[in-house]
Amino acid sequence: MQRVAIYPGSFDPPTNGHLDLIERGAKIFEELVVAILRNSEKSPMFSVAERLEMLRQLTADLKNVRIDTFDGLTVEYAKSIEATCILRGIRAISDYEYELQMALMNRKLEPTLETVFMMPADKYSYVSSRLVREVAQAGGPVKGLVPEIVEKKLREKLEPAYRFHDEIHRVEQESPAAREKKKRKKRA
Ligand code: PNS
Repeated sequence: MQRVAIYPGSFDPPTNGHLDLIERGAKIFEELVVAILRNSEKSPMFSVAERLEMLRQLTADLKNVRIDTFDGLTVEYAKSIEATCILRGIRAISDYEYELQMALMNRKLEPTLETVFMMPADKYSYVSSRLVREVAQAGGPVKGLVPEIVEKKLREKLEPAYRFHDEIHRVEQESPAAREKKKRKKRA
């Protein structure tokens, strides 16, 4: 039996935690379909097309993983592609309540579908798309939290915030004497 699972989510943007879970899922399912919800948020940072492209690039080496998008109910989409499992990641106890609710609702909607929970590596246990967006929007570093291509995309999108952050950092690194000299030059 070919066990097909879907890994649904917003992936705005994909993080190293998502990628870690995809790699784990790909090892236990014959086919894993990473499914991006099309209408998850009114104003996402990345368009569905951008997220699709990033995830495609990130999973190019995983032959049993494919990326798709869907609208409406997750269970309906799962049925339409004959998936039998929904894969979701649980990072901490705080995720559990929401995930349990969702899994039980999905079971109510479609009793034949099973939800499988997996844990990403503990080094990603605090990483979420929302926090990555927040840090990046304020010009902070997201290295190690997201794959390099996502980091690059974030930089492109948020260039002014990063420029501001880099400038502040550069000024802070300057020696007090150099700062004083600059101030005097400005006053003159
Ligand atoms: O990455 P996210 O935002 O935590 O993913 C949430 C997602 C997309 C899995 C969830 O919102 C979802 O399944 N939405 C589709 C609509 C649906 O089926 N709702 C009922 C699930 S209880």
